[in-house]
Amino acid sequence: MTSYKLFVLPGDGIGPEVMAEVEKILAWLSEAGVVRFEVEKGLVGGAAYDAHGMAISEADMDRAKAADAVLFGAVGGPKWDHVPYDVRPEAGLLRLRKELELFANLRPAICYPALADASSLKRELVEGLDLMIVRELTGGVYFGEPKEIIDLGNGQKRGIDTQVYDTYEIERIGRVAFDLARKRRNKVTSSEKRNVMKSGVLWHEVISALHTREYPDVTLEHQLADALGMQLVRRPKQFDVIVTDNLFGDMLSDVASMLTGSLGMLPSASLGEKNPRTETRKALYEPVHGSAPDIAGKGIANPIAMIGSLGMALRYSFNLGDLADRVEQAIAGVLAKGIRTGDIAGDATESVSTAQMGDAILAELQAALA
Ligand code: IPM
Ligand code: MN
Repeated sequence: MTSYKLFVLPGDGIGPEVMAEVEKILAWLSEAGVVRFEVEKGLVGGAAYDAHGMAISEADMDRAKAADAVLFGAVGGPKWDHVPYDVRPEAGLLRLRKELELFANLRPAICYPALADASSLKRELVEGLDLMIVRELTGGVYFGEPKEIIDLGNGQKRGIDTQVYDTYEIERIGRVAFDLARKRRNKVTSSEKRNVMKSGVLWHEVISALHTREYPDVTLEHQLADALGMQLVRRPKQFDVIVTDNLFGDMLSDVASMLTGSLGMLPSASLGEKNPRTETRKALYEPVHGSAPDIAGKGIANPIAMIGSLGMALRYSFNLGDLADRVEQAIAGVLAKGIRTGDIAGDATESVSTAQMGDAILAELQAALA
């Protein structure tokens, strides 16, 4: 049996708590001979800062680069609010994305039928929702230079970030979106602010040309990013694949998460370019939610986004689509039984702990694969 190398970075806050549930599933999959994983563990974020004075050590960067896939929990928390900017917890995640060249961030928002009432929107607006946000992840204002605060010498300072995109960056993320759409409902909505931003003008131009040249069979729409935010809460089921830049994608995916019931529900995959020789790609899988310091250590976090991220790893890194389907069905099955963590419980139901939710999903998966 092939064995895959997984590098696990639980991070801070609820990261280690939700990752523990994924580790249970990994251990069982290996033991049961379903698929073998070699799991190595490292430190990232505040945990790495406390140990090494940096947001990720060189040794752990090397391990991340050598792994078949990285599983990432969450980083940050008030404990590290005052550490220097360059070594703040988030810097570890950004360095991983940049150095592994993980330019394509896939953030699916699926509303499980059992959770339609947990959304802040009316049931009929979100029931059956299945959209995919494709967020550009290694460019834009996150990484553009100059990025600095300068002293103007007159008692004023100036903060500068730079939004910058080159043609090739827009094209490669566009291809990811169009290719995905072909396997879904064949529609892409591209989003920028070309009414105020030059990078938006170029984005619109490059996506339109790519569409005409290579993907005329896919329906393409354009929406300004502010309008798209509004449409996401007005009529979210109009969307299939949304492609957008790093910053808009960050914001819009948080909005989309609430459509599904809770931020604790959204998994994500961050992918690099496929190596044509090996047919493999660098990849990192992480829940969209953060470290949630307010509930960390209480054992009540929802592990579904983290477990869903493992599902995405099975699908996109290991070509185990059937097993990924089983993981998603196990999540749906547990939800259908009314098992809920606090964030999706509503007022009526009792809620379970992180570990109880993880155990229930694992039991469902075991039953399905028995
Ligand atoms: C996300 C997070 C990160 C981002 C932070 C932690 C740097 O919000 O993955 O959405 O802004 O990309
Ligand atoms: Mn975010």
